[in-house]
Amino acid sequence: MKALVFTKYGSPESVLQLTEVPEPIPKEEEVLIKVHATAANDWDWSMVRGKPYLYRLMFGIKKPKHQIPGMEMAGVVEAIGSGVLSFKVGDPVYGDTSAYGFGTYAEYVCVNEKALTRKPDRIGFEEAAAISHASMLAMQGFDIGHLQDGQKVLINGAGGGVGTFGLQIAKQHNAEVTGVDTGDKLKMMDSIGYDHIIDYKKEDFTKNGKQYDLILDCKTTRSPIAYLRSLTTNGRYVTVGGHLNRLLHLFFLRPWISLFSSKSVHILALKPNKGLKVINELFESNKIECVLDGPYALEDGPKALQYFGDGKHQGKVVISV
Ligand SMILES: NC(=O)c1ccc[n+]([C@@H]2O[C@H](COP(=O)([O-])OP(=O)(O)OC[C@H]3O[C@@H](n4cnc5c(N)ncnc54)[C@H](OP(=O)(O)O)[C@@H]3O)[C@@H](O)[C@H]2O)c1
Repeated sequence: MKALVFTKYGSPESVLQLTEVPEPIPKEEEVLIKVHATAANDWDWSMVRGKPYLYRLMFGIKKPKHQIPGMEMAGVVEAIGSGVLSFKVGDPVYGDTSAYGFGTYAEYVCVNEKALTRKPDRIGFEEAAAISHASMLAMQGFDIGHLQDGQKVLINGAGGGVGTFGLQIAKQHNAEVTGVDTGDKLKMMDSIGYDHIIDYKKEDFTKNGKQYDLILDCKTTRSPIAYLRSLTTNGRYVTVGGHLNRLLHLFFLRPWISLFSSKSVHILALKPNKGLKVINELFESNKIECVLDGPYALEDGPKALQYFGDGKHQGKVVISV
């Protein structure tokens, strides 16, 4: 089968190569999937470059442990292990495989059945590949932020995968949503229904005097004090990821903030695929849709991953296999 393989860390276009490799064989609880679509996300971007260096503790100190990136996928079951109970050959499936391994930048991948959900007919393969990770970050982020009807919400990093789903989920709660991002994404953000848009290159939302009941942050670019300033009394700040030093700051200050303030700070640890059925229902009732960038062909995957890392994309970058 064909796969995008890397054997050393570096920029996607210098180290990822389309290579012929043996097709994997499913273990007892695994499903072999013919991949139809996969996507680019921060894990892939960090894994291929081996940066931030701290991540090498997970991905391999000197060279990559996983040689095929990719952890979001949609495809069709091609074969099953002897212990698989929930799926049969021919089932369309999708999911975030990160709890069980990587390797979706390939024509076939073996995944534990627990990482998979049946794909509804109404959702295409490209859409399904885009949903599993980003929509869960947004939904679980809002869950720990206790999103309530009519709240004022701000999404920082609003034009990417998480932000575009986040807006639509917040709108299910009639929230008034402000999105912060920059460049060409601002026009797209206007078209998908953000109530207010801030260009972070022109305005610092933590210094404009406005306050929000809930901030969902995809980038963590400001100091904890700045975030607290932008929250209403009892407001909640939730970060799903971003700048490592800023995240460490928040992690250590969090207990002190809850001791001395009515505002609170939360760092999301994603539970892969938890809540995917709720998103399925929203899709099936036409309440949300994907903002896709692509699809790009598998052989153009290195370029697509670089484009994602450069932040030039809008919504979710998907790769068709
Ligand atoms: N919590 C967990 O367990 C977990 C698991 C996996 C991933 N994650 C994290 O989840 C996040 C994924 O977000 P995503 O997929 O939506 O990423 P994304 O598609 O890259 O979107 C992020 C957006 O933020 C924008 N941005 C960059 N700098 C900014 C700034 N200073 N202020 C405001 N916006 C800025 C980017 O645009 P430009 O670059 O063009 O400026 C981009 O449009 C990542 O931080 C990732 O590390 C968390």
